[in-house]
Amino acid sequence: MEAVTALNPTIITVFGITGDLASRKLLPALYHLSKDGLLLKNTRIVGITRSDTTSGQIIDSLAENLESNKITVDQTVISWLKEALTMVSMDPANHEQYSVLKTVLDGLETEQGICMERIFYLAIPSTSFATVVDRLGMKDLNTGCQHGKSKRSKLLIEKPFGYDLKSAEELIEHLKKSFHEDQIYRIDHYLAKETVQNIMTFRTQNALFRQSWSNAHISHIAITATESIGIEGRVSFYEQMGALRDLIQSHLLQLVALTTMEEPESLHAVDMHKAKETLLGQIRPPSSDTMQDYSVRAQYDSYQDEVSTKSAVETFAAIKFTIDNDRWKNVPILIRTGKMLDQKATEICVVYHQEGQQDTNVLTLRLQPNEGIVLQMRIKKPGFTDEVQNVQMDFCYNEHNNAAHPDAYERVLIDALKGDHTLFATSEEVRACWRITQPILDAWEANKTPLHTYENGSEGPIEASKLAERCGIIWDLSGNHICRVHPTT
Ligand code: BG6
Repeated sequence: MEAVTALNPTIITVFGITGDLASRKLLPALYHLSKDGLLLKNTRIVGITRSDTTSGQIIDSLAENLESNKITVDQTVISWLKEALTMVSMDPANHEQYSVLKTVLDGLETEQGICMERIFYLAIPSTSFATVVDRLGMKDLNTGCQHGKSKRSKLLIEKPFGYDLKSAEELIEHLKKSFHEDQIYRIDHYLAKETVQNIMTFRTQNALFRQSWSNAHISHIAITATESIGIEGRVSFYEQMGALRDLIQSHLLQLVALTTMEEPESLHAVDMHKAKETLLGQIRPPSSDTMQDYSVRAQYDSYQDEVSTKSAVETFAAIKFTIDNDRWKNVPILIRTGKMLDQKATEICVVYHQEGQQDTNVLTLRLQPNEGIVLQMRIKKPGFTDEVQNVQMDFCYNEHNNAAHPDAYERVLIDALKGDHTLFATSEEVRACWRITQPILDAWEANKTPLHTYENGSEGPIEASKLAERCGIIWDLSGNHICRVHPTT
């Protein structure tokens, strides 16, 4: 893997270190970064917990987790992590206890004798963000470094950013009191996926697609993010979220933006965000008259037993969006996502027009699994025949030795350490995504769209296919356009 440009010595403080996200994503990312030599040896990690969990326990369970994922654990890295991690037992809601945290952070810096930047990583429910951020601000933890010029601390925040448009607006305003926009890194881990970063490069570097990237050639775009897992025990989180808030409001609208926005002046943060914000401002949900035809919500059969309550939360959502600009006029953008379906598949299908025929040229950007880019074409079937058949051309990551790429959370951490905002969501992007989602939430809340059910392990509710048919589209996820391992010759 390529080297990362010089990073500053940093103390990463993790709120929620004993939680699910830290154990599944963050700690493994720290392990891999350290193993690959991408973290400075003097990086320090501080874990905040209400309990008396020790650093040894946290790192031992990380090692077990890695082993259970068939990773041969490097004991040198494990020892380093044990030494680098300091646990602070405190109640994040208690203002006074932030003095203890400040003393620990100052002490760690003094031990190193150099300026250490500070990152606060909030892997906690979004309802606690405001309290923690206020208290960090009140105790001057929004700046740091006594050995040299004072530096602004960085705040890394997990999604969801708010619960609806109103709460997101409030949170944006609230955070501004203690942290500037350029100190805040709003994580959307989809943006840090290698395949997602490739969208813009692919669009701009290939004349063939660059010149045909509009309604003159493209009939529709279909984005799918299905999961075979259910809610994995995250009952209280999911009961507040549902599929629309959990996946569409953030990850999938970001994918729409990257796929359809105007080319930015450069691929740097400011230009990328500018182009994305403009496009997000042009996405339209179904109107209230058409909401019932163009939005579908459904729940998998065993959901209510799992959450032990009569819940109306959707675990599947499908929506037709439109984009209000000249380039995308009359091009339906279909999005669907759901849990407990027959397969895990995340892909963007860009379907080209062909008079009288369905789906002849389909460009699939496959984000996971079997990552790659696949183009379906029509050719004459070889032999004594005039028949025409579909074939595919592909670039598949699994066939390229140089295509090994870091996990999204490794990228998130490195970019935050470097201070690069490109792969994080701005407050305006978050706002725009809630503006798009809010009318759908309101209509569903008012029961304007019925809540359907679907069988566990199925392709989802039939109503989603009907929605696509209303747009003249067959919603195909048959695995036709995915990377397969080619036989070696
Ligand atoms: C998270 C959602 O943001 O993304 C989860 O909260 C979901 O519900 C996950 O399972 C999917 O991420 P990935 O990277 O596995 O597609």
